[in-house]
Amino acid sequence: MPPPFSFTILVLSFLSLLTATSTATIGVVYTPSNFPTPERVASTLTSLRIPSVHILHPTPAAIRAFAYSNISLILSVPNSLLPSFAANVSFASEWLFYHVLPFHPRAHISLISVGTDVVSSSSILAPTSDPSTFLLPAMRNLHLSLLDLGIKTISVSTSFSFINTVSQAFPPSSAEFHPAINPLLVKPILQFLAETNSSLLIDLYPYTVYKVQPAIPLGFALFREDPFNFRDDPITAARYRNLFDVMVDSVVTALAITGHENMKLILSQTGWPSSSSGENEEATPAYAQMYLKGLISHLKSGLGTPLKKDGVAEVYIYELFDGDDEEENNPMEMVNNSSASSSTSDRADDQHQRWGILYPNMTMKFNLDFSGSGKLSAMPAAWLVELALGIISHVAVYFLLL
Ligand SMILES: *[C@@H]1O[C@H](CO)[C@@H](O)[C@H](O)[C@H]1NC(C)=O
Ligand SMILES: *[C@@H]1O[C@H](CO)[C@@H](O)[C@H](O)[C@H]1NC(C)=O
Ligand SMILES: *[C@@H]1O[C@H](CO)[C@@H](O)[C@H](O)[C@H]1NC(C)=O
Ligand SMILES: *[C@@H]1O[C@H](CO)[C@@H](O)[C@H](O)[C@H]1NC(C)=O
Ligand SMILES: *[C@@H]1O[C@H](CO)[C@@H](O)[C@H](O)[C@H]1NC(C)=O
Ligand SMILES: *[C@@H]1O[C@H](CO)[C@@H](O)[C@H](O)[C@H]1NC(C)=O
Repeated sequence: MPPPFSFTILVLSFLSLLTATSTATIGVVYTPSNFPTPERVASTLTSLRIPSVHILHPTPAAIRAFAYSNISLILSVPNSLLPSFAANVSFASEWLFYHVLPFHPRAHISLISVGTDVVSSSSILAPTSDPSTFLLPAMRNLHLSLLDLGIKTISVSTSFSFINTVSQAFPPSSAEFHPAINPLLVKPILQFLAETNSSLLIDLYPYTVYKVQPAIPLGFALFREDPFNFRDDPITAARYRNLFDVMVDSVVTALAITGHENMKLILSQTGWPSSSSGENEEATPAYAQMYLKGLISHLKSGLGTPLKKDGVAEVYIYELFDGDDEEENNPMEMVNNSSASSSTSDRADDQHQRWGILYPNMTMKFNLDFSGSGKLSAMPAAWLVELALGIISHVAVYFLLL
């Protein structure tokens, strides 16, 4: 006997929900150095099944090391090069000549980020330089140079830090891009990203928001499951169980307000420090592990956020190895100095923070499982069943609420 018609419809609609849902690609942020060698890093990342790497300050040797792997790459051009990229397209072409041309398409370079958090870094490093005069021109010149070389598969973007570009972290439905920088800088860049089918890159640190807003419960920032650990958005009535979703939905709202609700969103950096020389008692290995494990399992659940059911496409964990945080990469540098708790001494402490997930001997500091991050087609069947059950319970709850 064939199954009842309505049952078939039900199954089909769940299947379409399944294909509409995909899990994020979870990668890592890597700053090349001579030790360990890039070749060793590339082979370790392959064995850890990490599908994607965001390289800060990429060197030709590091890109070459990944050319023989199946790992996809985001390259971030150092901020210091941007004024010359903007001034003369031949500087952009020259950079591509050394960093992309020899390795493309064997190295899977998906995107080039023109600078890292340029808005905050430039106001801190050189208060007189206004990024709106060079950031977009630099992006345009790099894009033109790529087209001149006949390369159409590599997108061009730039990264913004959440804390310095999104005006509000709660409630997410009233967030917007900071009015002081939106018309001059963010809006024209979003327009460029839309025209070129590129993605917005956001550096998103619940740790930083927690540090400047101590009223937020630590468990809310660390993905702790707790019946009382939630906040409701009074406007959308969405219930938030972690700060990460609050922040992602704030970006989603800010994008929608500027008319770019469908723009692809990549979280180019996120993480939690495991140590600090200052009085940051939340910078511990236990909390770092809680955040990263919570993040990975949340992303693998494929359930997205209240406002973005398909979730964020790609997320990069900062960072692979402990480094001497350079100013332009240090998340705490992103806090505008007008923020209450961000004094000079905070930043001095934070230069000694450690964010790495691997020891130099290539063993993991934390017990993290990257396998299964990536596209849905790579998921084991058991995972699909789990997801289907998750969706069924969500749908049931949804109808109960109606
Ligand atoms: C490389 O990745 C692609 C898609 O991401 C996959 O189809 C292919 O099987 C992978 N190849 C190897 C050797 O892992
Ligand atoms: C751009 O750089 C090239 C090569 O360095 C040089 O020949 C050209 O004159 C420069 N153009 C401008 C407008 O500065
Ligand atoms: C940073 O703070 C200054 C005031 O010190 C303010 O004028 C500026 O708009 C702020 N920038 C951002 C991006 O929040
Ligand atoms: C935009 O990019 C996506 C991949 O990110 C691709 O699937 C789509 O075809 C592109 N659209 C256009 C119009 O190029
Ligand atoms: C922010 O930092 C800049 C550069 O360090 C400084 O000129 C400015 O006065 C600071 N603003 C505040 C509000 O502390
Ligand atoms: C790797 O280094 C860490 C930290 O120095 C150490 O605890 C661990 O035992 C080392 N592992 C191996 C396999 O050498």
